[in-house]
Amino acid sequence: MSSAEIIAVHAGGNVCYQITIAKDYQDLPDALESLQMARRRVFVVSETNVAPLHAEGLLEALKPLCGETHLYVFPAGEEQKRLETVTDLVRFLDRHMADRGDILVSLGGGVCSDLTGFAAAVYLRGIRVVHIPTSLLAMADASVGGKTGVNFDCVKNRIGAFHQPSAVYMNLSLLDTIGDREYRSGFAEMIKHGLLGDRELYRKLREDAARLLARDYDSLAGVMKSNCRVKERIVEEDPRDEGVRALLNLGHTIGHALEEAEGFGLLHGECVAAGCAAAAYLSMRRGYISSEDYREIRDTFEAFGLPTVIPGLPKEEILQLSKKDKKMVGGILHFVVIAEIGRAEIRQDVTEDELRSAIDSIAVE
Ligand code: GLY
Repeated sequence: MSSAEIIAVHAGGNVCYQITIAKDYQDLPDALESLQMARRRVFVVSETNVAPLHAEGLLEALKPLCGETHLYVFPAGEEQKRLETVTDLVRFLDRHMADRGDILVSLGGGVCSDLTGFAAAVYLRGIRVVHIPTSLLAMADASVGGKTGVNFDCVKNRIGAFHQPSAVYMNLSLLDTIGDREYRSGFAEMIKHGLLGDRELYRKLREDAARLLARDYDSLAGVMKSNCRVKERIVEEDPRDEGVRALLNLGHTIGHALEEAEGFGLLHGECVAAGCAAAAYLSMRRGYISSEDYREIRDTFEAFGLPTVIPGLPKEEILQLSKKDKKMVGGILHFVVIAEIGRAEIRQDVTEDELRSAIDSIAVE
């Protein structure tokens, strides 16, 4: 009997898709049944680090389910998340005469799902895409919610589109091949989702940290389901990021600034962890959460080996980058605070001094 966890996502209008959380590909036929792909061509898009490890297994699992499979592999790396890679993929699809009934399948981390999702959004004005994320971060965040895009002129996700996937299939065993640091960094987004929308998820992550870090995939499936539910609930209410979806930016104002500042070499999840610690400090200073809650939040990130302080932080540069972040709307910073553990709010009255002291709180000489 299948032990897969299934979540239905209703992402506005008639858009409805299923997230399957499994430990192998046994549930793939059920997960993709509604796509009616028996005579369709399926184009798996992956990158040079992931494809040698996982493409063959996926193609084997897909072959009995569709007419033809093809594999497109692009060079790994954030710098490949650009229009040139999309145009190269479009040429590949054209060479194989893809049509609007065919399906793209992303097999990789967030770069791969963002890029493949964007190609699917624009190719022939939109074809279907399925995400098979291979990193914990892409499972916890990027593969769910329909944000797609590429970087442009050094600005992340400058060009993009909302394009909801037709299915998301998380095969947790694919995580076996990622390193510990990358694995741990995925928990930052999950802790963030707990903090902003599900106190029980936050508590479970704290309680099960040792099991989760030891890659107990039964425990992981449980917290991943709650994690996806938080995101699903918010995306359902605001699929096009016009309101409450901004809550998902908790920790990202300062987190993105850390990512943009030169020379830290921090992973996205690590920046989000430090950014959440700074947001928690600001929330404590405003009296929304207690100092015990603040310390506990920091402990939780640290229990997953995630940074809550950054040595040698160029505080002024981080402040300027935080103010320039896309969370600025009409010149006003929209900052996400923790109103209480499990609930966040967007505030437009955060002052420069408050931002400065939040940045100070994560700095060590
Ligand atoms: N990663 C934030 C969002 O999907 O809106």
